[in-house]
Amino acid sequence: MPEYLPQYAPEIIVLDDARSAEAHSAELIIDQVVQKPDSVLTLPTGGTPLGVYKLLVEAHRLGAVDFSGITALNLDEYWPIDRDHQSSYARYMQDNLFHHLNIPAQNINIPNGQAEDVDAEAERYKALIDNVTINLGFVSIGPGETCHVAFNEIGSTVNSRARYVMLDPETVKANLQNFKEPAEMPTGAITQGIADILSAERLLFLATGAHKARGVARSFEGKIGPDAPASFLRLHPAVTVVLDRDSASLLSKT
Ligand code: PGA
Repeated sequence: MPEYLPQYAPEIIVLDDARSAEAHSAELIIDQVVQKPDSVLTLPTGGTPLGVYKLLVEAHRLGAVDFSGITALNLDEYWPIDRDHQSSYARYMQDNLFHHLNIPAQNINIPNGQAEDVDAEAERYKALIDNVTINLGFVSIGPGETCHVAFNEIGSTVNSRARYVMLDPETVKANLQNFKEPAEMPTGAITQGIADILSAERLLFLATGAHKARGVARSFEGKIGPDAPASFLRLHPAVTVVLDRDSASLLSKT
């Protein structure tokens, strides 16, 4: 296996609690959009960004920032899933962010969980990424030992691109709570690859809570490689890692 040596030290910011970490992350995103109103942003789903999205909605409501020029490029979507399913990421984004902002519908991009041909849909998404410069990629990490970033599960390579993936059993276990019936949970997803995520000019990584501490320490201090996909973020020259004390608790250097 190739040896990946960290070429850059990520900027690691540890704040007292989750709310402060969310507020700091929201500020970074708002600054990006204020400075470049036509920014292309990568956006994640899950529990972690919810507090950040609330703050973005509030800033928009107060007129502090205008999102009408941005392009949103979501990280992933289950497949197969109906876009209106209560646990689809399309629905999550609509409910928690897009419905409350003024991003034109044609600037919102999420892999289509209803696509008949999943590989063709992944190719479409890959081409879309190739056609833009992502100015800021907002990402998080999976729970436990998965160290997944988007749905790049253990084994994902640094060169991986947008594609169909099977979900890791640990991810299935963690995300099952979002589905009424276990049988409703898709076994796969369309995800941006590690190379797609690393193509962003800047990355913002947010983790909060003690359940993320092992993954954070493994990814930012352990060996870089496919057994901890989030560790590949250390190959990027401009990553800001925003943590609360709990998620930073197993880092030796903070
Ligand atoms: P969480 O999930 O933010 O809900 O913890 C993140 C992920 O699984 O990528």
